[in-house]
Amino acid sequence: MALGMKTLLSLLLSVTSMIVMGQSVIPKVRLHEVSGENILFGSIELYKTPDKNSFQTEEFQKYWSFLSSEIQKNIPPKKGKKIKIILSLGYLPTEAYNIKSNGNNIVISASSYSGFYYGISTLIQLLETQHSNPNYKLSSNLNIYDAPEFYYRGMHLDVSRHFFPTDSILTYIDMLARYKYNKFHWHLTDDQGWRLEIKKYPLLTQIGSKRSETMSGKNFKPYKGDGIPVSGFYTQNDVRKVVEYARIRNIEVIPEIEMPGHARAAIAAYPFLSCNKDTLPVPTTWGVFDDVYCINENTFDFMFDILEEVMNIFPSRLIHIGGDEVVKTRWNNCKICNKTKTIYQLKNSHELQSYFIQKIDSFIHVHNRIMIGWDEILEGGLAENAWVMSWRGTKGGIDAAKQKHNVVMTPGTHCYFDHYQGPQKNEPLAIGGYTPIEKVYNFKIIPSELNSNEKQFIQGAQGNVWTEYIPTFSHVQYMTLPRMVALSEVLWGTNVDYIDFLSRLEHHKTFFKQQGWNYRK
Ligand code: ACM
Ligand code: ZN
Repeated sequence: MALGMKTLLSLLLSVTSMIVMGQSVIPKVRLHEVSGENILFGSIELYKTPDKNSFQTEEFQKYWSFLSSEIQKNIPPKKGKKIKIILSLGYLPTEAYNIKSNGNNIVISASSYSGFYYGISTLIQLLETQHSNPNYKLSSNLNIYDAPEFYYRGMHLDVSRHFFPTDSILTYIDMLARYKYNKFHWHLTDDQGWRLEIKKYPLLTQIGSKRSETMSGKNFKPYKGDGIPVSGFYTQNDVRKVVEYARIRNIEVIPEIEMPGHARAAIAAYPFLSCNKDTLPVPTTWGVFDDVYCINENTFDFMFDILEEVMNIFPSRLIHIGGDEVVKTRWNNCKICNKTKTIYQLKNSHELQSYFIQKIDSFIHVHNRIMIGWDEILEGGLAENAWVMSWRGTKGGIDAAKQKHNVVMTPGTHCYFDHYQGPQKNEPLAIGGYTPIEKVYNFKIIPSELNSNEKQFIQGAQGNVWTEYIPTFSHVQYMTLPRMVALSEVLWGTNVDYIDFLSRLEHHKTFFKQQGWNYRK
């Protein structure tokens, strides 16, 4: 679409002001005041304030060298004076930070590691536009105050439909960290592949992580396969590596183990888990399938064993259990499921779903974690402690917030980055939909239907990346960059001016090129 004259003019003005200010930080900072002369310097060294006892915690000891190395790597030294960055503990909200310069040094105040990490990240973005200058330059009277609006700022990745090796996951974490995301939702299991090592059930990966091929394009009927086997999974050591890599970048990794539907890969490995107990292959097409977990004690034992192992390697507060798109055909006709309904006085299969989810919720709760699931977990009554991820529009999120449950908004309309981002004829094959970047930028996370008491249950939002039609990691980057950059500013709560955002985005595209990150031009 052609930009109007007024828009073009505004864009040019913004680009000019960006060059003058050297300011292209995304997400945009909350308050940014500059005045006074510039300080010119060639390198930066990290210092702690005199109250350095507060920095003797294990966390700071561990992360200090990481912060220093981030500075070395991203603010490469030049000729000229060395100035100090002084980290000072102060009373600020978690994740908030303040940057002040006074002509001789830069003071970053924060109350936690995450605030310092974000302060340094912002400084890195401020200075990286100056890499080709002979010196670095900052106002001698700089004052930045910054803090996120939302607690939950997430990106999701489906590694079941296609598998991406651990190194790609680390790159994904780098992408999230740069834009101050703090949650990575790792969709590890689904019908088309089980991707997590579980020591007690080795067949989950020996059988469930492999499929013979993938449907070509959208050749559902008549079916046409591509003849290329797909396999891959993460060992528990791979997971530990990802979790720590993310943690040091202020990102919590939230695992998703899908239940009681989207379970065909697990059923392929252990047919006893299904109602019919037939031996079925790992599917090579997309959609929802009739065969789901049979609701009985053996299934609960299996799920509890898996969750124990999962909680051992994922320290996250939230544990995602899926819960979406459960076809009830098998349950309606299964002797065992019907016996479960009779014993627990459940009227129908919707109540059976609720019974299953509530039992899983209790298990997770006694392990001091919190269960989160897709909005179908509202069916038949919501589990006591559950958080809800609203994907079928905003209704599930609104209902959950009215019931005083915490909510993460991920409506397909604005947050599904597997949707087309431009006219279909110019884009690689995608699942459908149309979610251009401007729509993402204008997403209103808090639904207007909620009153001020209910609003507080909206914890944030998340971009979802389902990979049925995204076979490579480079394609994942194409679908997410730059849409996830736009969503980061929505989550930070500073998304007021789309044209200004576009002008700042120009610098980030250069950065993507330098990193070798694919993106939509
Ligand atoms: C979903 O997209 N099925 C959560
Ligand atoms: Zn059954």
